[in-house]
Amino acid sequence: MNTHDGYVMDVAYPPHFHKEIQPVWLASLAQFLGTAAPDITRPYSCCELGCGMGINLLVAAATNPLGQFVGVDANDKALAIARAAAKSVGLTNVHFVHADFAHFAQSNNLFFDFIVSHGVWSWIAPNQQKNILQLVAKFLKPKGLFYLHYMCHPGATPMVPIQALLNDLAKQLPGTSEQKLSAALDFVCQLDLAGAFVDQPQLSDKIRALKQKPPGYLAHDFLTDHWAPQHSVDIHRLVAQAGMTFLGSANA
Ligand SMILES: C[S@@+](CC[C@H](N)C(=O)[O-])C[C@H]1O[C@@H](n2cnc3c(N)ncnc32)[C@H](O)[C@@H]1O
Repeated sequence: MNTHDGYVMDVAYPPHFHKEIQPVWLASLAQFLGTAAPDITRPYSCCELGCGMGINLLVAAATNPLGQFVGVDANDKALAIARAAAKSVGLTNVHFVHADFAHFAQSNNLFFDFIVSHGVWSWIAPNQQKNILQLVAKFLKPKGLFYLHYMCHPGATPMVPIQALLNDLAKQLPGTSEQKLSAALDFVCQLDLAGAFVDQPQLSDKIRALKQKPPGYLAHDFLTDHWAPQHSVDIHRLVAQAGMTFLGSANA
């Protein structure tokens, strides 16, 4: 299994669209919350950290010709798909950078009105989280918007033992991340059928629901060594230390 700082890299994360990281959504929401937002009726720039196959940037670039979009990811398979998609539809205002966050911090010389990161923070090593905050502190323009998605308590708390079990089992199984994940999940399902979680009926439901998801998605979700839901208050403190002010949830 190929990993980068404990994060799986041998499979690309399947594309998921998140309206919350679109500039029009973020700028509108900031204004609803009574704060000045970057003016998206003039040229502006936006960077997604951990963009995967780039679906969110591709949609943003196609629908916002005034925006310049940059996606950063350490997974070259995902970026090859993102670049091919941009080329096939003739987008010239989106670029994909193959780098981890530390390297991007060294090589980048652009400043951004928006920096967004979805599905990344709670799955990466603490030093990589620090790199994200350093990037934002250095490259977000004054009055720019930073969107940070993370997994939090108490919603994600019931999955803590399941993730630990899947991750540990996968380490002992052969194959790619997807194969390891599928075999580990089969084993957890057998444990469930044997009654291991009989006093946790909600956990059984969650395990059964996992079987409906693609193994590539689950490998990213569960096979990282740094999977950790956080308390919102801790995230707010960390982000404040990097010089940002909390505006509100991006989920209106
Ligand atoms: C779960 S995917 C999220 C993709 C996309 N943001 C979304 O929400 O659909 C997380 C992405 O972060 C990337 N990633 C993880 N650690 C990274 C690092 N240290 N530097 C750059 N990219 C990283 C992975 O390669 C992966 O594509």
